[in-house]
Amino acid sequence: MHRKVYLKTWGCQMNHYDSSKILNYLKLNNNIIVDNYIDSDLIILNTCTIRKKSEYKFFNFLEKLRILKNNNNNLIICVCGCLSTQEKENIFLRNNLVDIICGPQSIHKLNKLIYKFIKYKKKIIDIKSYKIDKNIINKKDFNFNNIKLNTYVSIMEGCNKFCSYCIVPFTRGSEVSRSPEKIIEEVCYLSKQNIYEINLLGQNVNSYSGIFSNGKLCSFSNLLNLISKIDNIKRIRFTTSNPFNFNNDIINSYKYIDKIVSYLHLPVQSGSNKILKLMNRKYSIEFYKELVNKILNVRPNMIFSTDFIVGFPGESEKDFLLTLDLINELKFDHSYIFMYSPRPGTKSYYMKDNVSLIEKKRRFKEIKNLIDNNIIYWNKKMLYNKYKILVEGFSKKNSKFLFGRTENNRKVYFLGDKNLLGKLIYIKINDISNKNYLYGNL
Ligand code: 5AD
Ligand code: SF4
Repeated sequence: MHRKVYLKTWGCQMNHYDSSKILNYLKLNNNIIVDNYIDSDLIILNTCTIRKKSEYKFFNFLEKLRILKNNNNNLIICVCGCLSTQEKENIFLRNNLVDIICGPQSIHKLNKLIYKFIKYKKKIIDIKSYKIDKNIINKKDFNFNNIKLNTYVSIMEGCNKFCSYCIVPFTRGSEVSRSPEKIIEEVCYLSKQNIYEINLLGQNVNSYSGIFSNGKLCSFSNLLNLISKIDNIKRIRFTTSNPFNFNNDIINSYKYIDKIVSYLHLPVQSGSNKILKLMNRKYSIEFYKELVNKILNVRPNMIFSTDFIVGFPGESEKDFLLTLDLINELKFDHSYIFMYSPRPGTKSYYMKDNVSLIEKKRRFKEIKNLIDNNIIYWNKKMLYNKYKILVEGFSKKNSKFLFGRTENNRKVYFLGDKNLLGKLIYIKINDISNKNYLYGNL
């Protein structure tokens, strides 16, 4: 039974990664993917609940589908992602638009759920957590993708940290690591499909703890080491790390494994120890700075990016200023800033959300200004210096230009020949007038 599928995704890289798997599973059943929901008869909505705003966006979108759904008995609407595990059957009750609810751990069963729904015409929910690996490599998987040079590979999912503001431990469940052999098999396969850069993905990659088939444990540093041995893989990135789990073995990986990029996303959330404690982050600012210094000792050219939450309950002007100080001191590059949003069921939901929206917006803007300055600071440091880039493709505007990315994620355009595609080459940066991309010479 072929369907015309429209899929919309909200949320983090993990959710987008899941969406690519969902598409692959659906394509295996000969469904066709369409770009417009008007033309579809199966709508998959991969949801996010990290902040209230992402939930709003989903419910607004769902309402847009009401007329379509009422006029087409054949249309199936399926909700996947974090809202499924957070709201469960309530999603059915809140409106009568949704037919199937499929949790993040059940996406490999989607074809079966759809089949069952069509057969029995009864609403279906599957939000169980399965022990089996939903990321099993499907050799057909990648035939569908436009072959790229870089891709994500999920290594673990879920979180055991219970930061007081965060919904993830409730929606994605506790930490589950994939088997190292499966990950290696997948990376080897990808490396033969022109994938040169791997981004290891997980809510908390540095607490990865896989088990080999012989029963031995595989830590994150072990895994990095194994992946670095795969010839065609030229660059390794990973996201997201928790400062608390960033142990000396992982730090030392930077010493021994050149393939790991000198760019690290290390969420700090706040510069104030008082707020970090209320957030249950389990580290102090002193610990965070020491970690940064330890990493800089083995990788002097490391650049850090981070996440901030502004307006957490109890965040005073003094606490906020400490965050600004930290940004000036550590010179965080491109970073994510979020206004605190209370999430039902989390610990901080019961704290008084006492920073006004106006104040949250002001703090957001102040941090953004500092980060923008830091981005320019790093761009200036790059001017007239040589950087390694992985050449990814042609400029859309002028096909004489190729582009690639530096380790610190700067897109660099340069004049060059197509045989450079997929190569790691040195480029001298000679124009930083645009904040979003740079120009260079071979
Ligand atoms: N409110 C605002 N930001 C949040 N984040 C997580 N939960 C919340 C929340 N309740 C942010 C954190 C995290 C990023 C993925 O999202 O900064 O690192
Ligand atoms: Fe959103 Fe978090 Fe779920 Fe990702 S894991 S989709 S950020 S709620």
